[in-house]
Amino acid sequence: MSETAIIKIGDKSYELPIVEGSEGEKAIDITKLRAQTGYITLDSGYLNTGACTSAITFLDGEKGILRYRGIPIEQLAENSTFTEVAYLLIYGKLPNDAELVDWNNQLTRHTMVHEDLKRLFTGFPKDGHPMAILSCLVASLSTYYQDSYDPENPEHRQISMIRLIAKYPTLAAFAYKKSIGQPTIHPMNSLDYCSNFLNMMFAVPAEEYKIDPEISKALNLLLILHADHEQNCSTSTVRLVGSSLANIYAAISSGICALWGPRHGGANQEVLEMLISIQQSGLSVKQIVEKAKDKNSSFRLSGFGHRVYKNFDPRAKIIKKACDNVLTRLGIQDPLLDIAKELEEVALKDQYFVDRKLYPNVDFYSGIIYRALGIPTNMFTVMFGMGRLPGWIAQWKEMIESPDMKIGRPRQIYTGPTETSYADAKKKA
Ligand code: SDX
Repeated sequence: MSETAIIKIGDKSYELPIVEGSEGEKAIDITKLRAQTGYITLDSGYLNTGACTSAITFLDGEKGILRYRGIPIEQLAENSTFTEVAYLLIYGKLPNDAELVDWNNQLTRHTMVHEDLKRLFTGFPKDGHPMAILSCLVASLSTYYQDSYDPENPEHRQISMIRLIAKYPTLAAFAYKKSIGQPTIHPMNSLDYCSNFLNMMFAVPAEEYKIDPEISKALNLLLILHADHEQNCSTSTVRLVGSSLANIYAAISSGICALWGPRHGGANQEVLEMLISIQQSGLSVKQIVEKAKDKNSSFRLSGFGHRVYKNFDPRAKIIKKACDNVLTRLGIQDPLLDIAKELEEVALKDQYFVDRKLYPNVDFYSGIIYRALGIPTNMFTVMFGMGRLPGWIAQWKEMIESPDMKIGRPRQIYTGPTETSYADAKKKA
């Protein structure tokens, strides 16, 4: 007999099924709650509400566990490449050698963008934020592929997924080049995914750009660590937009917008700006931590806290270690890393942070590595999006292919005025 939950409302009891996941997580299935009781549930911010079942990523916030398709993030970080992880997330298994070669070849052959698309850049102001530009350009890709973006057509899904993963680095690099007034550098089919991006970002026509394998390796690691994170804000946005059967370019463009927020992926840029302001303000780390605790200030310690991780973010641990390695290998002494480490130390001993289980998250150290790799601060969240793209796509594909997919449409509890007439309302104007 499967477990059930009993809800008692007034003198009536209602039995609801319990759903159990493969890792023992349990949920009360309220699919029939309103039909049975006339009641809905209310859960602002969805702290206690599951939007779907998913077989892609498993997190355990208490134990600091993160696995993609069952494989621990630590092992993927150690052994895999970003394009292999993208395949794993999207198709549910690691590619064999032949599949990986074919996958990489397909991605390589779709890195170029329509020449007309480059004209869109002329309309953006030089200092336009690249997240605005990326969301606009990704949505505009749908105008070039109107013959192949039907979400219910498997071939259209396949080619659109490849085009997105292949073209995102090209669009990101083009946005950067346009912002600094340099000519765009075209993708090179002889380069792997990360090296190609670095070349498009930092090469100039006037001389050959030498790709440092250490930098390419560090970029691979960062993209792997950002590749998916179950039903976070931007992924939930991609699912919701995709559930209306809007095309994948529209869904991903909305995910980019959601990621931009400083409470979400925009935090990596905020962290760097926070560390720089600490360095320049002469304020002590202790003073900054006090400011973050002050309820009268909206200031929060960027890169700290997490909706799910209430112990530590396994990605932050890996990135912190990589920070030391990358800076040492590149011979960079970055005082901001020292400030970050001191900030972490002070905060983790402070009762306010301990009580609220606030630990460094993925964004706390990532900006320091991006900076060491030469990526400009306002491109950090674009990098987060490059990493998260296969995760968004995998979650979108899982939803579109699920037989019981419905358009997402949450309910509400209305708290506005009860019925009144126009005349009465006019009198109160
Ligand atoms: C990402 O969901 C994901 O998986 C996201 C992500 C992914 O991979 O997709 O992991 C990526 O978005 C990481 C988070 C990046 N954001 C930041 O670093 C911004 C700073 N952090 C916070 O704003 C906050 O911690 C959130 C948004 C991350 C989580 O917010 P919650 O779960 O809604 O927690 P909360 O805002 O309700 O905070 C609980 C308490 C509050 O204090 P009280 O009202 O209980 O007194 O903790 C406080 C908050 O004020 N708090 C902080 C804080 N974060 C929370 N106080 C100071 N500094 C902070 N960073």
